[in-house]
Amino acid sequence: MNINKVYALYFSPAGSTRKLVTTLADALAQSFEVPLEIVDITLPAAREESCIFREGDLVICGSPTYAGKLPNKLLPYWKEGVRGGGALAVALVTFGNRAFDHSLAELCACLAADGFHTVGAGAFACRHVFSDTLAAGRPDKDDFAELAKLGAAVAARIAKANEIPAPPEVPGDADAPYYTPKGVDGEPKNFLKAKPKTAEDCIHCGVCAAVCPVGSIDPQDVSSVPGLCIKCHACVRECPMGAKYFDDEAFLSHKAMLEQSFQRRAESKWFA
Ligand SMILES: Cc1cc2nc3c(=O)[nH]c(=O)nc-3n(C[C@H](O)[C@H](O)[C@H](O)COP(=O)(O)O)c2cc1C
Repeated sequence: MNINKVYALYFSPAGSTRKLVTTLADALAQSFEVPLEIVDITLPAAREESCIFREGDLVICGSPTYAGKLPNKLLPYWKEGVRGGGALAVALVTFGNRAFDHSLAELCACLAADGFHTVGAGAFACRHVFSDTLAAGRPDKDDFAELAKLGAAVAARIAKANEIPAPPEVPGDADAPYYTPKGVDGEPKNFLKAKPKTAEDCIHCGVCAAVCPVGSIDPQDVSSVPGLCIKCHACVRECPMGAKYFDDEAFLSHKAMLEQSFQRRAESKWFA
């Protein structure tokens, strides 16, 4: 099969998904000796336009796992804003060392419904944005080695295919419910309404408002968060002063539970 162009298409508030998707897309563009285009749909302005692809395109699509599935606020865009048009796709999710549960199955199902033919898929463990200790330093060299194997398998499948290859089988159920976060006491914790707080160190540079993927922080007064918060931690991670933080008790209890129970190394997996 002929590939004319490779795209890296991703939502990545804290940057791990971007790292993996762009690395894989770059390797595949080099392998097919075709141009690479980056389509970053993290910020609201980027999602005002649809992404339309066509036969001959190979699109590496990436999203983090939130509560075992795709971030729910992004689902409408994956479903209505992206058109596959017969292009080939690789589905890639990242997760923070707990589990990816159903996110990869959900992304594969969205891509099939969008009109893509998925030829490879992967779930890669990355630093959990909630914590400095969970999967710290990941993706690491072993994860990138697995990513390179996924790239080689995808390139080989495409090169030898006379007709559209069958989609890979991935674990999970696209229609499963979201994971319910638990606290250190084992009880469910609801922190849907939690919003980031701002410490006195804030220098009002506006970075937090600029990186918020749902445009919820007031750029005139960054201590005010009038919109919804998806807990992505872009503001916490990008603040040059370390002035953004969460103090919601339910959130902190869930974070502590994760740090107690999920220190073992979760493996990155791929399917092609
Ligand atoms: C709201 C929210 C929910 C999350 N849920 C999960 C989860 O269910 N399982 C898991 O292992 N990691 C979970 N994570 C961690 C992210 O999937 C992980 O840190 C991801 O790599 C972040 O991607 P990014 O750096 O591209 O934003 C969650 C993160 C957030 C913000």
